[in-house]
Amino acid sequence: MHNPEFLSFEESASLGVWLATVVQVLYPVMKLPLPSPHILANSGPALLVYGGSSATGTIAIQVAKLSGCRVYATCSAANNDLVMSRGAEKWFDYNQLDFVEQIEAAGLSITHIVDCIGTEESGIACSKILALAGGHYHSIRVPCPESFKERRPEDTALATTALGYTMFGERFEFPGVAEYPAEPAMEEFAKKWVLVAEELVKTGKVQPHPLDIRGGGLEGLLQGLQEMRTQAPRGKKIVYSREWGLIEADAGLPIESVTEKVVCLPVAINAVDRSTFT
Ligand SMILES: NC(=O)c1ccc[n+]([C@@H]2O[C@H](COP(=O)([O-])OP(=O)(O)OC[C@H]3O[C@@H](n4cnc5c(N)ncnc54)[C@H](OP(=O)(O)O)[C@@H]3O)[C@@H](O)[C@H]2O)c1
Repeated sequence: MHNPEFLSFEESASLGVWLATVVQVLYPVMKLPLPSPHILANSGPALLVYGGSSATGTIAIQVAKLSGCRVYATCSAANNDLVMSRGAEKWFDYNQLDFVEQIEAAGLSITHIVDCIGTEESGIACSKILALAGGHYHSIRVPCPESFKERRPEDTALATTALGYTMFGERFEFPGVAEYPAEPAMEEFAKKWVLVAEELVKTGKVQPHPLDIRGGGLEGLLQGLQEMRTQAPRGKKIVYSREWGLIEADAGLPIESVTEKVVCLPVAINAVDRSTFT
């Protein structure tokens, strides 16, 4: 994807993982229509983004909305402005004991859930939310929580999960989970999607997740990992930048080819399971 001028390298670099992961759920898996000017607002299903203030969540809200969904989200009260600013119609505080009952009472007819948290607790809550209508539950975190599968058998609610890496179209192993065969169809979709995504970012229809940009390169990163162990950031991602001069020296690039001062090492740390994406 090309970097639009109004986005910093850090912001652009932070988009890749989340845009790929989320769109894989919405399109090849849930089979929603791709965003286009022909899609009418609210013409699609009611979709809940569980963990709406996560990095995957804020992208899911925006893209699902562009596909015509009525979008709802769960988050903490501190992040309700964030999820509403990205296009959620209503938010629910998952810290409240009766939040599932609040969702049921709102009569939203939710049939699709993108669970960006994927814990046993979120699986239980989502199974209750789909209890009446059934529908499609997707856990962004792999593997899919057993708690959902136990409560919602496949004939009433489909439970899926997928890994963003399949977008490269090559076989890979996800340690401790499974071996994933090459999926040429996913690679074909990725090629088509990147053109759509570029346009969405260029026209400001998809905004990056809030970032906490730090300096210090790889050494700073180690400090950030330590910080994650004690207090995970909420509603934002920590990104570490590195001076262009160092990159230029490493890669043997002529200095004239460098057009910006910094480049982002897109290192994003998950608050949910403390895994690290680079
Ligand atoms: N399938 C793939 O290819 C793929 C790719 C990328 C990420 N992932 C997975 O997706 C998951 C989300 O990653 P992310 O980077 O989007 O997350 P993130 O940005 O680190 O999520 C942080 C937010 O999650 C919410 N949260 C944390 N613990 C929670 C809990 N127990 N219950 C409910 N909400 C909770 C908090 O919301 P509040 O502050 O509002 O409470 C927090 O702000 C991770 O498990 C990650 O491994 C999968």
